[in-house]
Amino acid sequence: MDEKIQIVQLGNPVLRQKALPVKHVLDIEIQNLIDDLILFVQKVNGVGISAPQVNKSIRLSVIASHPNPRYPYAPYMKPTAVINPRIISRSKDMVKDWEGCLSIPGVRGLVPRHKTIMVEYTNRQGRIIRTEYTDFVARIFQHECDHLEGLVFLDRIENNIDIFSEKEFQRILKDRNRSNKK
Ligand code: NI
Repeated sequence: MDEKIQIVQLGNPVLRQKALPVKHVLDIEIQNLIDDLILFVQKVNGVGISAPQVNKSIRLSVIASHPNPRYPYAPYMKPTAVINPRIISRSKDMVKDWEGCLSIPGVRGLVPRHKTIMVEYTNRQGRIIRTEYTDFVARIFQHECDHLEGLVFLDRIENNIDIFSEKEFQRILKDRNRSNKK
């Protein structure tokens, strides 16, 4: 599995392309890619990954929120493949919270996102799903949809002051945990 998945990093043009729709969801290559992405994202403590990050410019992402050392406060969910996703409507209220990206190692940022979104996507069985996401999972969905448009979280940051190194971010997390325990 390790040999199959190679993450491309910021600067690679594939991350800046608009990805093409997936035509045949049930094709074995698509199903295998979904399996590989789900295994990989969990192994590297990610909460989401998109096909362009493994050099495949197609509209396929995996959302796999779960608490882990990179995102200790992430809620549990079943890893979900979202194919040809679209955001149908967005709440007016925005929330700023921390994001990172497997393609931008060592960097974190405070990113404003819509708190609640109504979305539509094709699942791995080929069915159209319409559902609502809120808070952290809505954030992941918006981050992954951006990847399919050639955008990364840094493009959404309001001010460079909101960009942190991973090390400084981890220090903030520790301080936050310490004050929670008091
Ligand atoms: Ni990302």
